[in-house]
Amino acid sequence: MVNIPEAYNQLDQWNSVMFLYDSALKEIRTKIEILNGEFVHIFGHTPIEHIKSRLKTPESIVKKLKADGLEVTIDNMVEKLSDIAGIRIICSFTQDIYEIADMIARQEDVTVLYVKDYIKQPKPNGYKSYHMVVTLPIYLAHGPVETKIEIQIRTVAMDFWASLEHKIYYKFEGNAPDFLQAELKACADMVDMLDAKMFSLNQTIQEFSPEPRTDKKD
Ligand code: GTP
Ligand code: MG
Repeated sequence: MVNIPEAYNQLDQWNSVMFLYDSALKEIRTKIEILNGEFVHIFGHTPIEHIKSRLKTPESIVKKLKADGLEVTIDNMVEKLSDIAGIRIICSFTQDIYEIADMIARQEDVTVLYVKDYIKQPKPNGYKSYHMVVTLPIYLAHGPVETKIEIQIRTVAMDFWASLEHKIYYKFEGNAPDFLQAELKACADMVDMLDAKMFSLNQTIQEFSPEPRTDKKD
């Protein structure tokens, strides 16, 4: 039988932990928005198209812990999962990804735990994205608490590819027919070509424009 005070205690712990992750998302989003604003002065354009963030649902947290053969506890969730708080930065150009990643890593209160560069080394299916797991302090009444966030940085084209791949993966529960996997791989190569072409076009445009681009829309 569930001991009621203990259940309350767990609920309290759960709420406190999720509050931290939610706060971390707000904090990192603000940092990124400030960097995006500053970037225009340094590089002549705003590199970020948009930012998406999400907290992992309780169902996916439990599913992930079980899949990793771990007991479902708050300690395991905090220690072993790195993507409870996740933020995705969608940029215009591949080159911007590295500038943004460096800018984030340089922030004094951000600690980079690890990086997975699936742009330099794409996954066999063609997946490309730059992943960074960082911690940053959340200042609570009793002091700072280092909180983990997974940051994914990719171009619009890489994001388009990843969304479709994700849909196909789920539809076929990870066993998509060979022809679809081959088509996806071919699309990943087209994403590379598109990203390279868009970058060189942008370079050409920059040389023609006397004023730095501000990405203002009418
Ligand atoms: P999990 O995949 O979450 O178990 O973590 P991991 O330790 O394998 O880390 P990885 O960096 O491979 O993946 C983390 C996240 O990146 C995933 O949750 C997805 O959001 C994304 N991702 C990784 N691989 C793929 C992929 O092949 N396709 C798509 N669409 N997304 C991917
Ligand atoms: Mg994975």
